[in-house]
Parts: sequence; structure tokens; C-alpha cells
Amino acid sequence: SELKKIIQGIPKAELHLHIEGSFKPELMFEIANRNNIPLAYDSIESLKNAYQFNNLQEFLDIYYTGAQVLIKEQDFYDLTWAYLTKVYGQNVVHVEVFFDPQTHTDRGIGFNVVINGIHRALEKAKAELGISYKLIMSYLRHLSEEAAFQTLEASLPFKHLIDGVGLDSSEVGNPPSKFAKVFKASADQGYKLVAHAGEEGPVSYIWEALDLLNVVRIDHGNRCLDDEALVQRLVAQKIPLTLCPLSNVALKVIDKMVEHPVAVMLDKGIVATIHSDDPAYFGGYMNENYYETARALDLNEVQLMQLAINAFEASWLSPEEKGKHI
Ligand code: HPA
Ligand code: ZN
Repeated sequence: SELKKIIQGIPKAELHLHIEGSFKPELMFEIANRNNIPLAYDSIESLKNAYQFNNLQEFLDIYYTGAQVLIKEQDFYDLTWAYLTKVYGQNVVHVEVFFDPQTHTDRGIGFNVVINGIHRALEKAKAELGISYKLIMSYLRHLSEEAAFQTLEASLPFKHLIDGVGLDSSEVGNPPSKFAKVFKASADQGYKLVAHAGEEGPVSYIWEALDLLNVVRIDHGNRCLDDEALVQRLVAQKIPLTLCPLSNVALKVIDKMVEHPVAVMLDKGIVATIHSDDPAYFGGYMNENYYETARALDLNEVQLMQLAINAFEASWLSPEEKGKHI
């Protein structure tokens, strides 16, 4: 269709992507087999049938289970390379990728195993596909701040490979304030800061992410429209929101796509951007997120371009690098 061609033609930046959430069932079975790890599902079909979620936690339970078959550096490499070749075909030219070290180190996998596999694939994509990248280590918020401090410590030998830290996993009951000290310590190490906030959690979590964690962008942030003073702050300080429309529908953050707040956010002058979160689980990568949102909200080409430009603005590329894309 015309709309699909327009979206394909726009060079895009992916800023909200959990690499463990790009794990397709086919590759999961392949890696499980070669590592001799039994999966709880007897076929790719039955695994896919389990991808029906009523909330964030139901998704996270399956997402963490799937990640357990990742053992060797080659597994993390294959996972990341599969993602990068996929989005190369979608005209994604820059990625800022999250990984969850604790999901792996808590199973006895070395931090080095995880990051070396991911990094090797990112470097290959840069050299061979021309995709630029940043890497973001996310702390799991359902675990303690002490555990996040241990992860920060474990990351230090690889500091030169990591651009920032994030905060993900079960939001409600795990407010940003729980991680204020470790975010401060992370900033002291030179890491940039982001956090998931206002996906399922209340608008107060977005305030906390800004005021207590000092993040430079908010992941999701859907709930900001509940608070006009917050909207004004986001606009005045140009704090980007990395929205994930297909994720929001899949996790029932919204009932249906026509209710997605991104068009209202653009109208209000918020630096809103669209991303894919966990594409293997939520039914689409960047182009599908753009397409489904554009169709449901009747976005025009100017709005689509604005979303794409916002993502480069919100990225951690240098001003010179941004200039090549905007
Ligand atoms: N929210 C919180 N944690 C996550 C998500 C999400 O959408 N995806 C992967 N970890
Ligand atoms: Zn996310």
C-alpha cells in the first residue's frame, strides 16, 4: 500500500527495544535444541499461542522464561544479529538497544558472555549494514537496589561498550525512587540515564524518574496526559517519550489502537517517538508500529516524518550525526 511504502521509505531510529524481546520462537527453539534445554512448549505454534497477555506481568513471566535458553556468547550474538538484519530491511538506520544483564547473570551466565555476544553483532551491523548503535543496560526494578548496584559494579570492566542505563520490568510497586542512589552512581560512572515510567504505573512515577533519577528521556510515559503540569514540563524541557503502540495494545495499557495517545502528544508539542519494545512478542517491528498507529489515528505524512525526526532528536547521536538524518 501507499502508506506502507511511505513508512518503509523513512529512515528510522529505534530507541526502545529490549533485545531479549526480539527473540523469535523459531530461533528460541533452535538455540534451546543446541543447548539441550527443554522448553515448556512442544512446538513453535504452541509457544506462539501462549503470547496472549492481560498485563505487563503476564508478558514478563513468558519473556524471562524464553531468555533462559540463552547460554553462550554465540546465543547472544545470534539473537542480536537476527534482530539487526530484520530491521535493516525496515530502513532502521540507528538503534539504541536495551539488555537485561540480571536476567542472565542471575542464572550464572557471565556479564562478559552477554555483552560480548551482543556487542559483536552490533559492531558487525555497523560495519556491514551501516546501522549505528548505542547500548543500554537495564536494571530490573522488581529486584533490589542492592542487586542493581552489583550489576553496575559488574558492568564497569565493559563501561566503554555501554552508553547508558535504564529501568524496566514490573512497574507498579517498584517506583523510580527505589533506585535513586544507583542511578546517581551510574551517572557518576558516565552513563546516560533513562527509565520506563507511566506504562502501567501512575503519573507520579514519571515525576520521580525526572526529579529523583534525572533521566534524559522516559520510556513509555503514556500516563503523562493525566497531568497538564507534567505535559508542560516535558514540552519545555524537550524530554522525549519513547512510545510503543503495539506493546500498549498487547499488554492492555490501552484497549485499542485508536485510543493511543501519541497523536495528542504530538499536538501538545511533546517529543513523542514510536518504537517496538519487544517485537517478537507484540506482533511487529518498527514499520508495523508506524503502520498500525498511522492507520488507527489517521496520521498524515507530516506527522510520520515528525515522529521519525523526533527519534533522531531524542537519540544519543552527536549533533553532527543527527544532522545527517534530520
Ligand atoms: N515494560 C517493562 N519492562 C519490560 C518491558 C516493558 O514494556 N519489556 C521488557 N521489559
Ligand atoms: Zn520497554
